Amino acid sequence: MRKQLRYILEQCFISGLGGEEAYINLIGVENFRIIHKLQQVAGGLATLDMGQWWGGVRVPMTGIAVVGIAPEYRGSGAAIALMQHTLKELYARGVAISALYPAVQSLYRKLEYEQGGSWCIWEVATRNIQVREQPLPLEPVVPINHQVFHQLYQQQARQTPGYLDRHPAIWERLIQPDEKEIVYAYFIGTKDQPQGYIIFTQERTEDGEILWVKDWVLRTLAAAQTFWSFLANHRFQIHQVRWNSSAIDSLTLLLPEQTAKIWRESRWLLRVIDVVKALEARGYPPGIQAELHLEIQDNLLTGNNGKFILSVANGRGKVTKGGKGELQLDIRELAPLYTSLFTPYHLQQVGKLNGTETAILGATQIFAGSSPWMADFF
Ligand SMILES: CC(C)(COP(=O)(O)OP(=O)(O)OC[C@H]1O[C@@H](n2cnc3c(N)ncnc32)[C@H](O)[C@@H]1OP(=O)(O)O)[C@@H](O)C(=O)NCCC(=O)NCCS
Repeated sequence: MRKQLRYILEQCFISGLGGEEAYINLIGVENFRIIHKLQQVAGGLATLDMGQWWGGVRVPMTGIAVVGIAPEYRGSGAAIALMQHTLKELYARGVAISALYPAVQSLYRKLEYEQGGSWCIWEVATRNIQVREQPLPLEPVVPINHQVFHQLYQQQARQTPGYLDRHPAIWERLIQPDEKEIVYAYFIGTKDQPQGYIIFTQERTEDGEILWVKDWVLRTLAAAQTFWSFLANHRFQIHQVRWNSSAIDSLTLLLPEQTAKIWRESRWLLRVIDVVKALEARGYPPGIQAELHLEIQDNLLTGNNGKFILSVANGRGKVTKGGKGELQLDIRELAPLYTSLFTPYHLQQVGKLNGTETAILGATQIFAGSSPWMADFF
């Protein structure tokens, strides 16, 4: 079974050289779900149980990765069936939300996933950084052990809507070099009192040398200035720097000109698995007191169907059944509302939800937030 799964995943993701075997080991074979046709393995996917930060609170989230169906079984609903089965299992297990990166958005929309946030790689030429001030020292971390970064990472993650409470496999892959690659890591500040860190690799390409920032945490202005000046000091060897950030990147505010550009961008999708759990698990803007009467439709996870009242106070939400159903939406459209990717007004404008003026106003207050993003691709 394991061999068949590995063979299918290698073919689906055009890999080899033991990469898929290592991936299966890292995730744990027990976290794969498989679909059979005529007693043969037809395909599979990986489930990554982790968390995602919303409103400063960690919400239980299961990431879905490497959905692959063998070519001879494609086009007959195998991926849909596998995913439906997995979603029902997540509901039964009490998972609140699920996220994934879609190769085919239309497939996952049929399973009620919708755009939830951004994944962006930014790029700037090292000569354009022009930040000279370096208030803090940097200390190399050798050998790299990702555990030393967890505390700083969690502090940044809590403040960043959409950030993952990373699955151990995501941490492992972050510091695992690909072939011919070396991973470098530095604390920004002293080892005893770091104010941030940077993990990166360097690559020689036809278009010049690139420094890839694989992960960063910057907790203070001094750390952010040091980050930029450290990167600027690579300008005689390195042509471009690339890093992951929000679609609206505040780090670029420290650069003198608007020379940094988004080099790659895509949106990850989110599905609310359990309406009550998802709405109660997350945090909300402190200082607002509001009530929202929702009416949800979910054709797959039917426990989500019906009317709910979400009452928000002191940064937390409480859900009760019933109410006036003033904001009507499919479970799919709850995703971009939940994540604040779009405002209720703009979602209504494109026909994604339907609500009274009071409901739109309430939802706008409750789901106010900054542009959601995550640094990790999985
Ligand atoms: C993407 C993949 C998983 C789909 O598997 P599948 O079993 O053929 O999918 P299904 O038959 O269940 O398709 C269901 C729906 O998904 C959509 N879909 C599936 N494959 C599609 C494609 N290549 N292009 C556009 N839409 C597609 C369609 O809307 C389809 O519904 P329809 O047949 O009613 O139009 C499969 O092609 C695959 O393994 N590809 C290689 C690996 C990959 O890209 N994985 C995705 C990682 S997120």
